Amino acid sequence: MNKPRHFISLLDLSSDEFRTLIQRAIELKNTRSPDFQPLKGQVLAMIFEKSSTRTRISFETGMTNFGGSAIFLSPRDTQLGRGEPIRDSAKVISSMVDAIMLRTNDHATVTEFAEHSSVPVINGLTDLLHPCQLLADMQTYFEHRGDIKGKTVCWIGDGNNMCHSYINAAIQLDFKLHIACPEGYLPETEMIKSAGGDRVQLFNTAMEATNGADLVVTDVWASMGQEEEQKLRERAFKDFQITQNIMANANSDALFMHCLPAHRGEEVAAEVIDGAQSVIYDEAENRLHAQKALLELLMCA
Ligand code: CP
Ligand code: NVA
Repeated sequence: MNKPRHFISLLDLSSDEFRTLIQRAIELKNTRSPDFQPLKGQVLAMIFEKSSTRTRISFETGMTNFGGSAIFLSPRDTQLGRGEPIRDSAKVISSMVDAIMLRTNDHATVTEFAEHSSVPVINGLTDLLHPCQLLADMQTYFEHRGDIKGKTVCWIGDGNNMCHSYINAAIQLDFKLHIACPEGYLPETEMIKSAGGDRVQLFNTAMEATNGADLVVTDVWASMGQEEEQKLRERAFKDFQITQNIMANANSDALFMHCLPAHRGEEVAAEVIDGAQSVIYDEAENRLHAQKALLELLMCA
């Protein structure tokens, strides 16, 4: 069996491929030709262990736009949820479809699935990474401000799956990343080290981290699966809300992003997420265009 090309992490793309994919996503967004059906008859299986609005709709619509179709699979009603081995599931499902997208709790589930799949596997979010979101975020930055190379991005909040993917994007697209997280909620040390040099810098406060920032990003304080820690996290993160005061310390043309869903009044003030610098709805829409470019890259090769 020839090894298929997977997309588990942004590092599965080269820097050039990442930039080409962004340009292709912008092109697909601007042309939207219904006659362009490069995936006619092809099928994407989508396995969701966790909830989703954007990821599910964007992948399903993307496949339909391209002339193919998508199957939504939840562990609640497949044998995966009853303990069928990942290896068997990967071999069986990949024998019937053309690509598989997974959103899982453990990152290892996606990597193990990919190891045994005969078709491309796409990471639709794990506890470690959320690379598809970064395709859309970067497309959004390029559309509004041009290339992100040499710019400064500021991540405030939890050192979670989104923060890890921002570290990978900083490596691939050559930007600086300022990170401010409460003690005990930093991104994985190995991930920070992987960026090398001073590409990633840690700050104690949100205010310090926004110095010179061209883009300010945050995410929920309690991710999916951490609902029981909500109250504890609200206390730990109380000084890390992105307020207008914090945004005012970033560069005057800085953008604000959030992968959504968001909690106004927790990680971000309503005036910021609903304000002039926020591009959250472009970011959400671009999930569709960026992932269509990704599907084309993986499935049309
Ligand atoms: N941002 C994101 O991945 O949204 P969903 O959880 O709705 O898919
Ligand atoms: N960090 C969040 C992202 C949701 C899209 C989570 O994992 O729940």
